[in-house]
This record gives sequence, structure tokens and C-alpha cells, in this order.
Amino acid sequence: MQNKFYVTTPIYYVNDQPHVGHAYTTVLADVLARYHRLLGVPTFFLTGSDEHGQKVAKAAAAAGLTPQEQADRTVVRFQQLWKKLGITHDDFIRTTEDRHKLIVQKILADLFQRDEIYRAEYDGWYCVPCERFFTEKDLVNGNCPDCSRPVEKIKEANYFFRMGKYQQWLIDYIQTHPKFIQPDFRRNETLGFLRKPLADLCISRPKSRLNWGIELPFDADYVCYVWFDALVNYISAVGYLADDAAFQKWWPCSVHLIGKDILTTHTVYWPTMLQAMGAPQPESVFAHGWWLTGGSKMSKTAGNVVNPMEMAERFGVDAFRYFLIAEMVMGQDASFTEDSFVRRYNSDLANDLGNLLNRLTNMTGRYFEGKLPAPAEDARAGAEEKELWDAVQLAVTTMERSINEMRLQEGLGAVIVAVKAINRYLELKQPWTLAKQADKLPLATTLFTAAESLRVCAGLLYPVMPEKMTVVLRSLGQTRTTPQLDELRAWGVLKPGAPVKEFGPLFPRVEKEAVSDQPAAVSQKKPAAAAAVPGVVELLDYDYFAKLELRTAKIMNAEKIAGADKLLKLEVLVGEERRQIVAGIALYYTPEQVLGKTVVIVANLKPAKIRGVESQGMLLAASKGEKLVLVTLDGELSSGAKVK
Ligand code: ME8
Ligand code: MG
Repeated sequence: MQNKFYVTTPIYYVNDQPHVGHAYTTVLADVLARYHRLLGVPTFFLTGSDEHGQKVAKAAAAAGLTPQEQADRTVVRFQQLWKKLGITHDDFIRTTEDRHKLIVQKILADLFQRDEIYRAEYDGWYCVPCERFFTEKDLVNGNCPDCSRPVEKIKEANYFFRMGKYQQWLIDYIQTHPKFIQPDFRRNETLGFLRKPLADLCISRPKSRLNWGIELPFDADYVCYVWFDALVNYISAVGYLADDAAFQKWWPCSVHLIGKDILTTHTVYWPTMLQAMGAPQPESVFAHGWWLTGGSKMSKTAGNVVNPMEMAERFGVDAFRYFLIAEMVMGQDASFTEDSFVRRYNSDLANDLGNLLNRLTNMTGRYFEGKLPAPAEDARAGAEEKELWDAVQLAVTTMERSINEMRLQEGLGAVIVAVKAINRYLELKQPWTLAKQADKLPLATTLFTAAESLRVCAGLLYPVMPEKMTVVLRSLGQTRTTPQLDELRAWGVLKPGAPVKEFGPLFPRVEKEAVSDQPAAVSQKKPAAAAAVPGVVELLDYDYFAKLELRTAKIMNAEKIAGADKLLKLEVLVGEERRQIVAGIALYYTPEQVLGKTVVIVANLKPAKIRGVESQGMLLAASKGEKLVLVTLDGELSSGAKVK
């Protein structure tokens, strides 16, 4: 067993709000951290924010804020999202904190003193958005080789880190440490990059050009290049040059999780920096692929981002976490569409998992008064029982392997296969037929075996869906709901006689009509589909409600629509504006009865055609059983008034 597990995410720029890409890396780190905690491995999970540099300075200028104000405001959005998504990081480092800045300065001073950093005149090309220097031959068609945007000619004195001298060392290190860069094809990418001569790294920016950064300890006219500052977070957070015991305990890090966009900084800059400092290398850097929308990378710059807060609110935090981990083959790109989300939700979560719990609790209720029955002594001697238990144990083995090999989607796939096997087992055993026998033992064995198998599956899914799997384990009568991994190998952990009951549907089906086939990014611009999960009252943030524009409207005209006996065509006055609304109220109101009434309408719905007649809004009405009444006002108020 490993003696510790230290996992990091990139520290994200605070120039804008988080999107699904950021949520993915952080949820992935959280899932890995939670698995290791279940295994009893001491775990440290670090995330944070990258607050210096041009990107943040620019965003601040655009918002009319100081960079620090910009950082202070934006960092909260990340922190709130992590809270919402159930992220269990042990520390959150901000690069504007003293505990970080002081360490960066110590490192700089030491490297400068040992001539690992030197001053030189720089004359070359600079990409402003990438904040990187390039030589003439780096350029592609005269543009930045990374982002293809135009570059600027720059001539100024700067400070350089002697990165080039570590080139051969780095190549050798990567070749002799096959786990260092993962997946394999990323290692080859870095080795490919290292076939060209490696230049020294410019680590300074003159304050005259950019002053938002950590001041160089040996030259107050300069600040430190944002990447040189940012990478240090991985060691400043765990006590480098400050708390030796902590540093010895956690460093080297087990895995830096990153997106493939920042492979070079993590597998070339960072290892050479550490080598110059005389610090050990991280055990591994794992670069995952990109979430795409509409075929291109989801990014703030491209403006095609999916809002993770909104996904979590609409579909639930656990379903969102599950989708992120199950849908992406670790290392490759994946598409984020609402369609694929709903498909996976309905099949894996609603059908397979949710239904299984529902069937089990129902039958235990019906046949054993809601108490888990005791199985036969030799329960697993039965062929079907043995087969099922083997399938479930295979899921345990596969999950273990998938964590070590960073293929979590395979582990989840194996659990869903096991869940399907439990459902199949129940169909095969037909408890409803067994219930007719006088001897209740076969029925008891069947339900107990299915419940035990589900317990193991829930334990395996717990790090991905902690809230929902806690509900499953409670439903099965477990009182201690943090699963322990050794129990997943053991038979007979559930206690006969324990109360078994469902606490409401686990994953209510999402109706296809309620969502669109558009990439989720596009659909987020529509008013929230609060009714996406029928029958479930979700608590919404006020922001959601605030998106609805409710207004008073006076009905000026009303008539029946030929051939549509439920519909009335209304003409309403909303302040100065006349609108036509088609309302399904004709069975309850005649045109005469509604004339002159002041009602409440949803005023910012997209116009729709109902039976060929355009409708520019919707009336509010209350209905119960056979009755329906319009929502009207308790007092006089002119039309067009806001309802809130
Ligand atoms: O690069 N798909 O910060 P950043 C998957 N501050 N993951 C994505 C993604 C997408 N479409 N978009 C972003 C920085 N990510 C630096 C890091 S670390 C010392 C400094 C994730 O805000 C992915 O992890 O641009 C990517 O590497 C990271 O967000 C970049 O976040
Ligand atoms: Mg980026």
C-alpha cells in the first residue's frame, strides 16, 4: 500500500468564472482523493487560484477593478463551486498569499545567487495572450506557435532561468521514469518537444509593462513571470522552505492532474525548476483531454462554456460528478452535450441503479415488513448467487485497478455491469413467484444477496457520488455510511433485521422533452428548466427565480380557437404593450368570464406556436384534480407591474 497520496489540480486563473473544464479536473482530483481516503491512505488534496499575471490584470482593467479586487471577487466563485460540488480539498492556495509569495522570492533569490538565473538583453518575439517569448524560428507563419495570434517584437533587459542546460538531464529522466508523464502518448509529446534545442526561460517582466506579480527580490523594477510563480504553489502549500516536517511528509506529490493545454509548463518548466532547486520530482503528471462543445475546446475565450453550477442545480451534484467521470475516457477529449448527459443519466442512474434500489426496498417492504431478511447459511452455494457475487467482486478488482491505472471510466463501467447483473439476478429468481411458496428462505436469500451486492456497488460508487450512495447505504439499513474498502470484499456486512426503506426516488428519470438536443452550452441561455425532473422539488438559488419575468397583464380580448376545444386566444395588455397569448383554459373559463381580469403572465418566454397560433407568454393558473383557477391580484394594480 502507498504510504501517502498527494494530488493537485492546476491553480485556475481568476480572470473569469469557472466552467465545466475546471470542474472536471477538480472533481477528478476529489474522486481520487476520496478513494485513497477510503483505502486508509493519508491523503492531501490541493487546489487553488493563480492570481498574478497579465490575464488577471487585463480582466481587472476591463472590469474597472484593481487586480487584487478582481482576484478577491472571482476566487469566491471557484470556492463556492467547489463547495457545491462536494469537493474535499485539504487546502486552497492563492498565489497572492504571503505564504506563497515569500517562498517564490526565497527560491528566486537562491537561484539568482547560484547563477541559475541571470540577466540579459532580450530581443525577440512575444505573444501577449500566451505571455510567452519566442525566437524567430519558433513562429508559425509569423504568428504564435501556440495560439496562432500575432506576436510583438520586444527588446528589453530581463532575467532568465538556465532551463536549457537541463535538457539532456530531462530527456534521460523522462526515459528512465515511464510513469512520470501520463498517458504514454503525452510523454512522447514532451520528448518530441525536447528534440528541438531547449532555450532558457525568461522569468521576469519589467514593471513598466506589467506590474501585477511577485517582485523579484534582486531587482525591484521587475516582477516574476506568472508561470514561474504559479508552479511553485505545489510546494509552497506543503511547507517548502517553511515547514520541513510537512514538506517531507507530502512531497513528492503523487500526481499533478492537468489538462493537456498545460503539458509543457508541467513537464518541462517545472521539472527543470525543481532540479535547479535540488528538490525531488513529482511522481507523475497526468494530462487529461478537453471537454469540447460543438467540436471545439470549451474555453472562456471561445465563449462556448457550460456552467457547472447550473448543471449541478438542474440534475443534482452527484449525477453531474458521475457524468464527468463516466463519460470521459481519461486522457482523451470528450463532448459535453445535454443529450449525452440525459442519456447516461437515464440509463445508468435512473434505470439501472435507481430502479434496483426501488425494487429491493419495495419487495422487502412487501414480503418482510421492511426488515432485511436473513439468508440461508450457505447462501453463496447457489449457482446464481455465486455468479452474482463473482460479478460484483470483479467490479471491486476492476475499480482498484482503474484507480491505479488512471482509467476511472473503466471502473465505473464495471460497477454498472455489476448493477445490471443484480437486476438480471432478480429477474431470474423472480422473488414475486418465490413469495408464493410456504418456505420463505429462498425468497430471503434472494433479497439478501441482491442487497449485499448493491451495498458493494454503492461503496464503489461512493467517492464519485457521496451523497446519493450515502442514501443507498442508509436505505439498506447501514448506520455507518462511509464505506470501508475492506468491507467491499466481505460477504454478510448488512445486518438481517435492519430496516430497509427508500427515501424517495434516488435518480428520478429526466424526460427527454424537458431538455434540448443542443450542446448544453447553448441551452443554458434559456430560462432554467425547473421541471426537468418531474415530481422532484429542487431547491433553487434566487438567481434562477430572478430569471423569470412575471408581470401583471389585463385581458382585453378573448376568443375560442376553432378546432381546439381547450384553448382560448387572449389579447392582453402588459403596460403599454399588447400581446397575444394562447392559454389552455377553455374547459374552465368562457371568453366572457376572463374578459377584463388582471392576471399574471410569464413575460420572457420565447414565443411559441400553439395549434398554428402564436403565443407570446404564458398565464399562471393553479390546478388541482379537476379544477383550475387563474392567478389574479388581491387588489387593484395597473398591468405591466412586476410580480416577485
Ligand atoms: O492554465 N476541458 O489556468 P486555467 C478540460 N493558471 N479541462 C479544462 C478545459 C476543458 N475544455 N478548460 C480548462 C491555467 N480546463 C493556469 C494553471 S497551474 C500551476 C497554473 C482545466 O484557468 C484543465 O485542468 O486556464 C486545464 O489545464 C485548466 O483548467 C486550465 O485552467
Ligand atoms: Mg487556460
